[in-house]
Amino acid sequence: MLNDIEKIFYSQEQLQAKVEELGKKISEDYKDKNLMLVSVLKGSVVFMADIMRAITVPCEIDFMAVSSYGNKTNSSGTVRIIKDLDRDIEGYDLLIVEDILDSGKTLSYIKEILMARKPRSIRVCTLLDKPDRRNSEIVADYSGFEVPNEFVVGYGLDFAQKYRNLPFIGVLKEEIYK
Ligand code: IMP
Ligand code: MG
Repeated sequence: MLNDIEKIFYSQEQLQAKVEELGKKISEDYKDKNLMLVSVLKGSVVFMADIMRAITVPCEIDFMAVSSYGNKTNSSGTVRIIKDLDRDIEGYDLLIVEDILDSGKTLSYIKEILMARKPRSIRVCTLLDKPDRRNSEIVADYSGFEVPNEFVVGYGLDFAQKYRNLPFIGVLKEEIYK
């Protein structure tokens, strides 16, 4: 697996430091709130596991799964709910935890359907942000790193469902994408 990596963008140490920093900020902002972290499967699962432990205020967690990508590196244009939240979110201060904000299509859709369920507030925390590719109005309230327009893998992010278990974030060699 390591042989497929062209270069490392963010090391384990850099990711850890960033998660700590975000966790601190979130803990400060949600001191007197009713925080529920919503992780969007599967890409954000590694980030979720780390960020929830960097948050020092009480919170609940829930998961949802949507599909917007096939095995390609471009959006298929459709977003489908595969798994909905287990819990009612009315009265909660929701923080959606995402791996990467790319076109923004996925998150705009998720935010819209969750908003209709009347949470007290709703914000977005993304580890990575690719602002060059944005084609919807969504902005991240908390964001780890701005990445250039390259397809990245690792730390939860996949290419054709693989490489999620890399502990760092990097780009694959060109021949792998073909
Ligand atoms: P969006 O709807 O275009 O913002 O797509 C967001 C989703 O696409 C993310 O949650 C990822 O699952 C996937 N995605 C976008 N860019 C990348 C990437 O560089 N590597 C891996 N997955 C990506
Ligand atoms: Mg994702």
